[in-house]
Amino acid sequence: MASIHFATLIVGAALIAIAQTNPTSPVLSTTLGDVVGAERSLFGKTVQVFYGIPFAKPPVGNLRFRAPQAADPWGSAPIDGTVKPNACWQSIDYSFDSHEGVTAWNPNTARSEDCLYLNIWRQSPDVGHHPKTIMVWIHGGLFWSGSGVLDAYEGSDMAARKDVIVITIAYRLGPLGFMYLENNAEVPGNAGLLDQVMALQWIKDNAANLGGSPDDITIFGQSTGAISIGFHLLSPLSKGLFKNAILQSGSPTAYWAVMKTKKAVDRVAKLAANVSCPVSLGDQLLSCLEGVDPEVLTDQQWILGDKWFDVPIGPIVDGHFLPSHPECLLKVGDVQPTNIIIGLNLHEGSIPVLRGFEEDYPLENQGLLDREPFRSIMLTIAEGDATLLDELLSVYSSEFEDANKRRMRILDAAAGDSLIKCAVLEFARAYTLLGGNVYMYSFEEKFKSSPWPGWMGVPHGAEIEAVFGDPLEPGSENEQSDKDLTKAIMELWAFFASEGYPKFRDVEWPAYTTRYQEWVKIRSKDVRVVRRPRKQSCEVWAYHQFA
Ligand SMILES: *[C@@H]1O[C@H](CO)[C@@H](O)[C@H](O)[C@H]1NC(C)=O
Repeated sequence: MASIHFATLIVGAALIAIAQTNPTSPVLSTTLGDVVGAERSLFGKTVQVFYGIPFAKPPVGNLRFRAPQAADPWGSAPIDGTVKPNACWQSIDYSFDSHEGVTAWNPNTARSEDCLYLNIWRQSPDVGHHPKTIMVWIHGGLFWSGSGVLDAYEGSDMAARKDVIVITIAYRLGPLGFMYLENNAEVPGNAGLLDQVMALQWIKDNAANLGGSPDDITIFGQSTGAISIGFHLLSPLSKGLFKNAILQSGSPTAYWAVMKTKKAVDRVAKLAANVSCPVSLGDQLLSCLEGVDPEVLTDQQWILGDKWFDVPIGPIVDGHFLPSHPECLLKVGDVQPTNIIIGLNLHEGSIPVLRGFEEDYPLENQGLLDREPFRSIMLTIAEGDATLLDELLSVYSSEFEDANKRRMRILDAAAGDSLIKCAVLEFARAYTLLGGNVYMYSFEEKFKSSPWPGWMGVPHGAEIEAVFGDPLEPGSENEQSDKDLTKAIMELWAFFASEGYPKFRDVEWPAYTTRYQEWVKIRSKDVRVVRRPRKQSCEVWAYHQFA
């Protein structure tokens, strides 16, 4: 009896504690209706979160594949913003026995076509306070995966520590987001990118309602999120929707970022045939594809890839969102240049190589590799070009000394340059010539919390946990130096978002110039400005543009 009574007391105490810290649920008024959210106490601040705000009509039924349509007002009853929204359709990844470094990026909510929602974290707006800076996160995932509500993109730490309004958005993925029908103007391609535009428009329209300002919005994103941001910097449709931009490990000029239209047409035909909607159906093709189970469409896209690194179905030059290829837009586009931070991680290539060559390059081998698989992987990265292979071997061999880990480092460097780094450097150069203010970084600190083995270095995506403040969470096992660097990076991101130039510790951070090509090495110790990074190797790649 006594123990039951004791338990009742504890439950009673817990209920009172909740009632005291959360006397009323926060309500957000938007142009379309009210949203009831939840509150969380963090670092002595109260953070409000509103999940699942619709910014477009659910793209279902005969809205599938089409450009998004603005959401309708939902009337006087508020919607429930305490529940994380559905993820857009995507395949689930179980690679490497469901390794944590893989599964952390799988959706953590149900998958559905009804997925066009955004999520907001903020401190309660104080009356009369200066409007807060808004930071909008565009997730990566190679245009076939990702979600705005992954734990990795939890915005409350940033909202609590930096007093910015953090927003994450969703966009359609894979065949549902990037279907292109050559002879049907209703499906002109790039629907997923138009979803992003619509979300940005909603945010601008509602900035004041959120406690922010429509003229103080910064977009930030990683990988294909950064590539998307590169598109927004160049697209006439995104003009005026944001002020500054942060591109983490991605450039729209990467050779794989935009698919040739001919290739997209061929791939759509192949996918359509596979799901029993052959292109020969003509006018009936669209209605046939509309009837296919979204999971089938999503899972069958994998028959389309034909290279070691491939986006099965993604962005194209549609003549509308992308009037021409990003490289052309950077030269002759009608672009209003702004302030950007763009940067890279030290070992961008290690995850793509691990994943692209799972059999030859196993996770357990501590980064050691025999000569034969090494040469064969390198030849594949060189797309079968034996002359390029020789050039690559000679240019990268001089770069590394540690003989034991050398082959792995060379593959990482070659893949990282080819897939990401050289395109990012090229974007920095072209955007500077266009009149933009560019600040470059290279993130080079391996955090204790990284799920990947040590030999993979500072891989693609490693900086995300610093940007979102994970090492500062209670219970984190990170070193103090990781925590200090996390604080500095959060300050750098938030300060740049509001001011348009970087502040990082006591570093004199020069704007990028085409002459010196400066970047800042971000790490715990020995932060330095480097000139003309990766010049030699990127020159080799510049002569071998794959498509
Ligand atoms: C679709 O592709 C899968 C995987 O390659 C194959 O097994 C199946 O036979 C294909 N279906 C049709 C109708 O082509």
